[in-house]
Amino acid sequence: MKFLNQKNIIGLSPMDGITDEAFRLVQTKIAKPDLIFTEFVSAEGISRGGIKLYDTLLFSPEERPIIGQLFGKDPESFYKSAIILCELGFDGVDINMGCPAKTVTQHGSGAALIAKPELAVQIIQSTKQGIDDWFFSKVKITDIGLNQRTLDVISKNKKYSNLENRPVKGGARRAEGLKPTLSVKTRLGTSEPIIEKWIPVLLSQPIDFLTIHGRTLKQAYAGQADWNQIQKVVKLAKNTGIKIFGNGDIQNRQQGIEYCQKYGVDGILIGRAAGGNPWVFNNHIATPQEKFSAMLLHAQMFQEVFPRRCFDSLRKHFLLYTSDFPNAKSLRMKLVRLNSVKELLSLEKDFQP
Ligand SMILES: Cc1cc2nc3c(=O)[nH]c(=O)nc-3n(C[C@H](O)[C@H](O)[C@H](O)COP(=O)(O)O)c2cc1C
Repeated sequence: MKFLNQKNIIGLSPMDGITDEAFRLVQTKIAKPDLIFTEFVSAEGISRGGIKLYDTLLFSPEERPIIGQLFGKDPESFYKSAIILCELGFDGVDINMGCPAKTVTQHGSGAALIAKPELAVQIIQSTKQGIDDWFFSKVKITDIGLNQRTLDVISKNKKYSNLENRPVKGGARRAEGLKPTLSVKTRLGTSEPIIEKWIPVLLSQPIDFLTIHGRTLKQAYAGQADWNQIQKVVKLAKNTGIKIFGNGDIQNRQQGIEYCQKYGVDGILIGRAAGGNPWVFNNHIATPQEKFSAMLLHAQMFQEVFPRRCFDSLRKHFLLYTSDFPNAKSLRMKLVRLNSVKELLSLEKDFQP
């Protein structure tokens, strides 16, 4: 948890369907954030053998520090999932209590937990127990009822993340004395901001940091993030030892640092602004040629990491890379039809001045 000692941490926010391993590799190579989150993954899913979901948890050593994010509503699944994330070598486990998507909230997960503080507390405590039991070797990955296929996928992921080659086999993290962090990411409230009621519930728990997105569940992504509310959360956390990360509408590292200083947060997470623009983490304004090179790298990484997936899911990224190109309608029409790296290469001339 050394990474939390840094000031003004500017991290990449989790984004389901966007911040997958290919995206994060491109981001890391071009302008590395101080902290990285995976997309969220279902705690119930990974602890009950949903092996396809383990793709979400692939990460490379150069992305560290990296936090795995869980969503769900069943404390027992969070206990098991925390053990899984620790075994996979994550630097921290984050609990999603902020997702506004109906598919998530209608099952009582994500931001719906704001309305169920007792369950939220149980989930945090189970997750904490999972991290502690794993860290102090009270439980092994083979003790939590996972079937052999799931254990095999976990071994494969560990190999991908190069865990075998860490200095002390198997117990590297313990040897380094680095216990994975526990954190929560949430919103101001459900229909109205209720930080005076909701945030103390979270701050009474054994978490290392809390990320607060300055909107309510009802707002989803509408309107502007309320940074005055975020500043109030910082005041509520004073003397608790729990770090506060602010989130919402930050456009680049420079603005992130300004907001850390202005609102007193320990860190900032940047989400949407990083889509198609990895340079938000080094304040560089990319040229169209640089954007093309990044798209090419993204496509190559995607094919390498997910060889069985079709190209379709990359197209939304291509549109993001070119979203600020003026008069690019015909280019975008071509981008949404791309099916291969070769076809992408044929568009290189469209990115030249
Ligand atoms: C497409 C998309 C997917 C998201 N997925 C997640 C997620 O998996 N976990 C999470 O905590 N937040 C998720 N978020 C919320 C972002 O992490 C972030 O809190 C929000 O976009 C506000 O920050 P921004 O203004 O910097 O984008 C998602 C947002 C978007 C737009």
